[in-house]
Parts: sequence; C-alpha cells; structure tokens
Amino acid sequence: MKINVFENYEELSKEVSEFIIERVNNNKKMLLCFAGGDTPVLAYKNLVKAYEEGRVDFKDCKFVGLDEWVGLDENDLGSCKYLLYKEVFEPLKIKEENICFFDGKAKNLQKECKNMDMFIEKYGPIDLIVLGIGVNGHLGFNEPGVSFENYTHVVNLQDSTKVVGQKYFEDEKKLEKGITLGIRYILESDTPILIANGKKKSDAIKRLLEDEITENMPASALKLHNNSHIFLDKEATLKINLKK
Ligand code: GLP
Repeated sequence: MKINVFENYEELSKEVSEFIIERVNNNKKMLLCFAGGDTPVLAYKNLVKAYEEGRVDFKDCKFVGLDEWVGLDENDLGSCKYLLYKEVFEPLKIKEENICFFDGKAKNLQKECKNMDMFIEKYGPIDLIVLGIGVNGHLGFNEPGVSFENYTHVVNLQDSTKVVGQKYFEDEKKLEKGITLGIRYILESDTPILIANGKKKSDAIKRLLEDEITENMPASALKLHNNSHIFLDKEATLKINLKK
C-alpha cells in the first residue's frame, strides 16, 4: 500500500486526477469504478477540465458504479448515481452502453447484483477503482464486519453511515440498506486508490494505517493488495506518525 500525503485538498485532487489521466492515456480501454461521496468531486472536476482541454478521452472506457443507497435512484439529488452522472458521465460524454450502475429503487436487488457481476465478468477485472472511506472505515457500502469474499451484495447500513449520509440530501432520507461492489472486486482490481481529506477522516485513517487487517475495518483490505495507493491531505494524517 503506497501512501501519498499532500498539503491540502486541492493538491491531493490534482494528483489523483493526474494519476487517472496517465493510466487512461496508457490504456484507453479501461474498466473504471468511481466512488460517489464528496471526497473525489474535485478530482472529477479536474478530469472534466482535462477532457475539455483534449488531454484525455474516456470514450473507450467502461464504468461501473461502486455503490448506491437502496431506495434511491438518479432522480434523488444526493444519490451516488445522480452525482456520478452530473460530475463524470455527462460532462465526459460517456455512452450509456459503457456504464453499469445500480438502480437503488429496483424491486429485485439480487438482479441488480447479478447485472453488475455479469458486466464485470464481461469487461473486467476492474482496472482502476477510486474509493472514499467512511468514518467507520467502510469502502463503498462494505460496512465493518462484511466479508472480504463478497462480490456485489446488499448490506444493512450502520447507524453512523445513516447519520453521516444525511449530508448528501436536502430533506431527511430513510437510509437503511446499501447495494455495493464487494471487497473481493477491490482485491481483484489492478489499481485501487483511496482518497481521504480533512480531520473528519483522521481517526479512520489512523485505524487503517496502524491496526491489523480485519473485516471490522474494511479499508484494511487495501493492505492485502500489492498495488493499492492512498492519497491523503495533511489533515487526514493528523493522528498518525508518518515517517517521511
Ligand atoms: C459514503 C459512500 C462511499 C464514500 C464514503 C465516503 O457513504 N457510500 O462510496 O466513498 O461514504 O464519503 P465522503 O467522500 O462523502 O466522505
């Protein structure tokens, strides 16, 4: 697990976007997975700018969603799908046939899982995954205690995720379950990258870096991967002792 620390969120986001651009320019047919959440938004905006400047093109890439709140879809401002379409797929002009995303309102969630597994089986393994981290250490919606062996699955959300998750919505939402790619996909991907910024993530980052590998800390799975990268800003490292 390679750890990169940057002065602030802007520098961190610039580095993340340049990292992605370099890889896509080396392999134009990547299967990419981008997290929702607040953390990667500036990196996504940088990607869009680079695309508009002609520095990168994603037209031959395929995309899968990382996770979604069960009960929400793209019509809910704040859903993962809404964010990814607004910040990434629409401005980068990604064709619908190149995207596989969860419908959180689907009646048959097992079918949603199966659709995702079939898409990844066809075009995978995933080349590059951009991840955020929950304050409880989750990756996607892989909550503490979830098996590292899972592929796509439906999860009961922890209270902290339900509470923190309200930040994405104007009106209070009933958040009970999530649908998510499992840790197994992250471990089977070529390059997983985790981004975290701000003091709010410093406890989770301390646990990730200092504690053992355990399913109680889902992000610790990244330590099992020999090409995982973590991009942090200084604030996220406040609680740890990084040897420079
Ligand atoms: C959310 C999402 C994750 C996201 C993480 C961090 O609940 N399910 O995909 O990466 O938690 O979110 P944020 O970047 O807003 O802190």
